[in-house]
Amino acid sequence: MARKKLIAGNWKMNGLTADGTALAKGIAAEVKALGKPQCEFLVCPPFTLLAAVKKALRGARVALGAQDCHFDAKGAHTGDVSPLMLTDLGCAYVILGHSERRADHGESNELVCKKAEAAHQAGLKTVICIGETLEQRDAGQTIDVCSKQILGSVPETATAADTVIAYEPVWAIGTGKTPTAQDVEDVHAAVRKVLAKKLGRANANKMRILYGGSVKPSNAKEFLSLPDVDGALIGGASLKVEDFMAIAKNSGC
Ligand code: 13P
Repeated sequence: MARKKLIAGNWKMNGLTADGTALAKGIAAEVKALGKPQCEFLVCPPFTLLAAVKKALRGARVALGAQDCHFDAKGAHTGDVSPLMLTDLGCAYVILGHSERRADHGESNELVCKKAEAAHQAGLKTVICIGETLEQRDAGQTIDVCSKQILGSVPETATAADTVIAYEPVWAIGTGKTPTAQDVEDVHAAVRKVLAKKLGRANANKMRILYGGSVKPSNAKEFLSLPDVDGALIGGASLKVEDFMAIAKNSGC
């Protein structure tokens, strides 16, 4: 089953207009230079930069995504941003349930699922994040935790066309630590099994499962050549054009 790899940058809460625009322009130029890339590219800047980055990406095969959304289309939700507002700005994707949102904002599987349903209804594709803490890993609960997150966070109606899963072990995010390649493959294969039970085998076989957590140019090939790893969700290294593009190139894009 050929799944087109997705190389996605999560800029998190980084970038002002000048550097965000320069980063997007740099990525756009490099992706254009690839001609017809073998991978799909995605950048997810903070809300404040979405419009400027959209402009900077013009003409390049790089999709725009946000890092969160509300489940309502509009209304009395001070400080929130709706899925429709994101499509209005030219977003194709939204990241949901990142561990930083689960930790900083108490987001539950149920809330992530509700957001995902609303995002799909608005025409957005979702990147739904899962991953265990170090404590859970040490207790041997990795697969169990990830399976529960999949069952609770992914809508029943999700398809391979509108949903991407990102496995990001919490302890590997921004730490330079990573699981072994075998660990990553084991989790991804287990996640695909759970997806097959929930959404049917055909959907599960087509759905992309990204790895995230300290992905760098030096380890990209190792992770992205695994059979069930269909791309990367990159934090720190997505803030430098050279690193982001080196990850893509080392992954065969
Ligand atoms: P790092 O690549 O900085 O570890 O971040 C990963 C991440 O959280 C992407 O969503």
